Amino acid sequence: MDKARIVVLISGSGSNLQALIDAVGNGTLHGNIMLVVSNRRKAFGLTRAEQASIETLYFPLKPYRDSAAPDFRAQYDTDLARAIEPYAPDVIVLAGWMHILSPAFLDRFPGRVINLHPALPGQFAGTHAIERTFTAFQRGETAEGGCMVHYAIPEIDAGAVIMQEIVPIRPNDTLESFAKRVHEAEHRIIIVATQNVIAKTGKT
Ligand code: GRF
Repeated sequence: MDKARIVVLISGSGSNLQALIDAVGNGTLHGNIMLVVSNRRKAFGLTRAEQASIETLYFPLKPYRDSAAPDFRAQYDTDLARAIEPYAPDVIVLAGWMHILSPAFLDRFPGRVINLHPALPGQFAGTHAIERTFTAFQRGETAEGGCMVHYAIPEIDAGAVIMQEIVPIRPNDTLESFAKRVHEAEHRIIIVATQNVIAKTGKT
């Protein structure tokens, strides 16, 4: 039986991608990363992929936005899906991917797109979730944050939760020390969640 095929989408430093690369290397993740896509040219995650001899694709939104077509986002999502389909992914991991994907993309990979978000289900959807969690802590509104991996649906950072981890906030925490702990938790759950989905494909 051939190994599960993984495609990873990134927009930034790619530390979560690196966790996946390392997990493939040490056998924790029973699959192969076939392609890494970034919508930002300068994403260091592209360098991490190249260093691991993984094929990369830089796929920016700008040309579609500049086209001023009224449905430029749907066109982008459709073309992005078309670019990925030949890799026959069993799972597509959104690892720090900063672009909301519409049904034009999601419907082409039903039940196979998972997203990492640095907050707990139902809390702080959208960007800057770690900072917003910490601000709530400073206001005495919460004593914990966390992260989750969920199935991607059109509603942002919603969808059935695959794995989550609570990250306590300590009285002497700074934003940086808390964020570091959230990222460490992300690097754990992204592997377990991806392996969970791979196991469902029977390709493990
Ligand atoms: C992670 O916290 C991710 O959840 C958020 O941005 C960060 C990306 O980290 N969307 P990296 O690019 O994987 O290092």
